[in-house]
Amino acid sequence: MPSTLLTVLSALLSFATLVLSLGTSCSAPLGAGTAAPTDPYWMQNIKHQGTAAFNSNPSGYQVFRNVKDFGAKGDGVTDDTAAINNAISSGGRCGGGSCASFTVSPAVVFFPQGTYLVSSPIIAYYYTQLIGDARVPPTLLASPSFAGMAVIDADPYIPNGGGAQWYTNQNNFFRSVRNFVIDVRQVPATNSQGTGIHWQVAQATSLMNIVFEMSTAADTAHQGIWMENGSGGFMGDLVFNGGKFGMWVGNQQFTVRNITVNNANTAVFGIWNWGWTFQGVTINNCQVGFDLTTGGLTESTQTVGGEAIIDAVVSNTPIFVRTSQPSNGKLAGSIVINNAQLTNVPTAVGVVGGATVLAGGTTTIASFGQGNVYKGTNGASTFTQGSIPAANKASSLLDSAGHIFGKMHPQYTNYAVSQFVSVKDNGAKGDGHTDDTAALNAIFAKFSGCNIIFFDAGTYIVTQTLTIPAGTQIVGEGWSVIAGSGAAFQDINNPKPVVQVGAANSQGIMEISDIIFSTVGPTPGAIVVEWNVKQPAGQNGGAGMWDSHIRLGGAAGTNLESAQCPSSGTGGTAACFASFLALYLTAGSTAYLEGTWVWLADHDLDGDGVSQLELFSGRGILSESAGPVWMIGTASEHHALYQYSLVNAQNHYMGLIQTETPYYQPSPAVPSPFSLNSAFNDPTIFGGSSAWALHVTSSSNILVFGAGLYSFFQSFGQDCLDSNNCQSQILNVDSTSSINLYSVTTVGTTFQLSVNNNGVVNQSGNVDGFASTLTSWSQS
Ligand SMILES: *[C@@H]1O[C@H](CO)[C@@H](O)[C@H](O)[C@H]1NC(C)=O
Ligand SMILES: *[C@@H]1O[C@H](CO)[C@@H](O)[C@H](O)[C@H]1NC(C)=O
Ligand SMILES: *[C@@H]1O[C@H](CO)[C@@H](O)[C@H](O)[C@H]1NC(C)=O
Repeated sequence: MPSTLLTVLSALLSFATLVLSLGTSCSAPLGAGTAAPTDPYWMQNIKHQGTAAFNSNPSGYQVFRNVKDFGAKGDGVTDDTAAINNAISSGGRCGGGSCASFTVSPAVVFFPQGTYLVSSPIIAYYYTQLIGDARVPPTLLASPSFAGMAVIDADPYIPNGGGAQWYTNQNNFFRSVRNFVIDVRQVPATNSQGTGIHWQVAQATSLMNIVFEMSTAADTAHQGIWMENGSGGFMGDLVFNGGKFGMWVGNQQFTVRNITVNNANTAVFGIWNWGWTFQGVTINNCQVGFDLTTGGLTESTQTVGGEAIIDAVVSNTPIFVRTSQPSNGKLAGSIVINNAQLTNVPTAVGVVGGATVLAGGTTTIASFGQGNVYKGTNGASTFTQGSIPAANKASSLLDSAGHIFGKMHPQYTNYAVSQFVSVKDNGAKGDGHTDDTAALNAIFAKFSGCNIIFFDAGTYIVTQTLTIPAGTQIVGEGWSVIAGSGAAFQDINNPKPVVQVGAANSQGIMEISDIIFSTVGPTPGAIVVEWNVKQPAGQNGGAGMWDSHIRLGGAAGTNLESAQCPSSGTGGTAACFASFLALYLTAGSTAYLEGTWVWLADHDLDGDGVSQLELFSGRGILSESAGPVWMIGTASEHHALYQYSLVNAQNHYMGLIQTETPYYQPSPAVPSPFSLNSAFNDPTIFGGSSAWALHVTSSSNILVFGAGLYSFFQSFGQDCLDSNNCQSQILNVDSTSSINLYSVTTVGTTFQLSVNNNGVVNQSGNVDGFASTLTSWSQS
């Protein structure tokens, strides 16, 4: 054969392979973005036909709001505060402290390019996304006379309310703020009202792609983020310039990825926590990197319980980490530092007005810990202020700099509106009752790989498995919901996926953002998301989801609310099954999960917003993946057998993971009302009558960098909390798995860690506030 023909043939063949491996069949593959340089971000001009399916007026209620349609000028001169706040609150949304929460009136509030002058806080209601133009992020400019807690306030204090706030901080869910410059430099430097965001939030919340501009005066009182309580949460891709504090933060737990702090006095001030993980921190020209209040070892004196920092680059900063109290040879705030590269940082770890714990200089800290270190099955700890065992980090988890890989929530910044297709324009209804299975399958068949698929806000019901082919990119609008319903998901012995992400063994791009996966109960045979897809070769994070969640029950339209399934148990079990398994990462898959909350509701979000529920979901997250898997800021709560289970899993980075045990346990005791199912590799042994938070079997290269594993109840009562015996064991690893655990915080469990189902680490030696923290555990 002539060689040119050979070349042509082989090129054709490799093209065919490429198309095959994408798994999609559309005709004009999506290439690069085609937006013109002067175009606005696609979100501004895409057709806006999103609805809130369970709003009392679905056809009248407006989900998407452009602040300019509400009179904001964005000219840097006009005071836009009132117009922006109108854009957020219009449509009878509930605020001011008059309701706890809701899902029926979501809002996406869009800010076109421009500079928006504000003189008092922009009040971010519950279930609101504030999104700036991602191409040229708009500036929120605080006026010189700005008055209020912060430019954006996610949980205002009620005036003269004795400390009462609009929303309960631990239940302040479903929030996102993206693509802004927040500039407080015109506010007098000494005025701490020059604060960017008051972010007092809980799960399913994100801050993303925000630059905070603050005064660099020596006496600056400005601060980027102010957060005094909550139960978060994820934030990432943030830059702080100037200020007294980049972040001043207290919250049960949080995951922070990719922050840069330049020229602040203190980059991060920690007032209290149970456990935070920082991944990818750059600090330049500050006085102190992390300034941590420590030493409060009781619930009423809670200070920083666990700070875990991985992949830091710090320069020209006198002190990297400083605690307010010395440890004096015992736990007084756990600290883990993994891979910190210091340049001209004289003190790596020190104490206010006291000793240097770890000298700095120009050097790299490989693996440092301050706290109690455990190995193998030895229940005795070694209090350490120094080197701790380093984790074996699989190279597949790392970027080219050797840091844990990270990928920002895809925003398709350079894509033109014409490169998106709307599911509502193509036959899907999203009205919360029409069966959209066929319409959605047809849309994927026609457009996957050729267009970005836009799920206009709504609730899309599917009655058969929906398979999203490899090669698909999906964007929701204000958390569009895909919910499985009906006969296909009833058989507890023969469960079916509601959504298959990639067909079995498929490979290709998969990006899912701003989507909620759910069920309309009862659905005892639902695997809510079966994740099969593998990222394309050489494309880390090519298969992932961002700001996307699994939410089961507790919301209007789920048929799993307090009317059906109150915590009194009068709903019984049959009517109150929400799922068999929430998220299943199958053996051939890879996954990048950032900001994923896998929640079986414990209370109603609609209705009174507080009534407790008794619902049943068999399993939380099961991973059998050989990796790479990144779980960055994930949580799994209230599932019957386990929250996370790794079986034959490899090459996982998990930081921070957060769990809660079902409130009804031990009545009924685990696994009831489910039975064990060996086809899903269920654990066969439990450490008492309650669910495992994390169960690891036959797995290797697992790195858990921060965990908050909580057991707050027994049969809906909390007497067990004081005695730390709401359950006996909570985290089990088998002795054949290779796994490193750092900064593991527990509440309400006697043993923090078990090996081969035998309790090893007793929490009593690790109490550092309301919670107990184990600083490091390794097999040997
Ligand atoms: C919130 O945090 C502040 C500051 O740490 C503390 O004084 C207050 O008691 C906390 N409030 C709640 C409701 O947790
Ligand atoms: C980190 O954040 C910065 C600022 O938003 C962004 O430019 C950069 O791409 C991010 N890096 C990663 C790895 O996400
Ligand atoms: C845990 O430690 C405490 C304090 O030493 C002890 O009283 C308790 O019996 C221990 N619990 C178990 C289950 O070993």
